[in-house]
Amino acid sequence: MKSILVSGAFGLVGSELVVELQKKYGIKNVIALQRNKFHNDFQGIVEKGDVRDFKFIEGLVRKYNVGTIYHLAGLLSVGSEKQPDLAWDINVNGLINILNLSRRYKIKVFWPSSIAAFGNTTPKLEVPQHTIMEPTTIYGVSKVTGELLCQYYHNRYRVDVRSIRYPGLNGFKADPGDGTTEYAIHIFYGLIKKNSYRCYLKPDAKLPMMYMDDAIRGTIELMEASPSKISVRTGYNLAAISFTPAELVAEIKKLSPNFRILYKPDHRQKIAESWPKTIDDSKARKDWGWREEYDLAQMTRVLYEGVKTKLAVKKKNNE
Ligand code: SER
Repeated sequence: MKSILVSGAFGLVGSELVVELQKKYGIKNVIALQRNKFHNDFQGIVEKGDVRDFKFIEGLVRKYNVGTIYHLAGLLSVGSEKQPDLAWDINVNGLINILNLSRRYKIKVFWPSSIAAFGNTTPKLEVPQHTIMEPTTIYGVSKVTGELLCQYYHNRYRVDVRSIRYPGLNGFKADPGDGTTEYAIHIFYGLIKKNSYRCYLKPDAKLPMMYMDDAIRGTIELMEASPSKISVRTGYNLAAISFTPAELVAEIKKLSPNFRILYKPDHRQKIAESWPKTIDDSKARKDWGWREEYDLAQMTRVLYEGVKTKLAVKKKNNE
């Protein structure tokens, strides 16, 4: 088979997607690409390089006979606000490189969009697939731009590119990134380390979220769906669970009744407020059969156990 290249391979999504792809398609068929961060215990093929370097990525495509790219490399919302030029360069110019290569070498592409593509003028509840998109962050601007590029390359050059507007994704294998929804992962580190957490969002800041296993499965299902089923070439709305920090804390208190939460909203609250609370994902459900499995209680339990085990292993290795 042709091989699968994953950029951003050790990021929040990549760390879990690579392992699933290896299980499904064989360890020899998955190439993990990362700009700087490496995991010493990683088992598989790894390459170090930058998605902005067209020649380098083209070299990988030829060397490994790449047929599919999961192009995950990118900066998240909070990180992007710190370095808007860099965010644009990586998020948009990196994608253009991948799309141009895909056009030339007939590669199938997955690229993650986000709920950050929505903005203050988007309806807050049950956001339809097609709606107003006027994001306020550079991250959101890069996502709307990217979606339109994907659609353009599909219409103009027949590139088979597919995308999902990811909600906040919560997993424990990678350390949480510099995003807004990531409080929902950081909170578990606070829980395990000191049974408390200082939250940078208000207690009622409701956001669309998803447990990572659902996101990984959904992503692979989208990529495996027959092209005839794909009617959206911008980014599919995808929903699972929407919750507020207060609702997550209520779940956490079932596991640890003395857990303490302190709310100190900062600039990230404004970003959260510009995003919707709930998403209408009926198109993904109808087109390619999307369905989530994890609810808030299940997600809370697995994140608790996962972070606890991870921190225990880290502590043991440092001893
Ligand atoms: N988790 C992302 C962020 O907060 C949303 O795409 O930046």
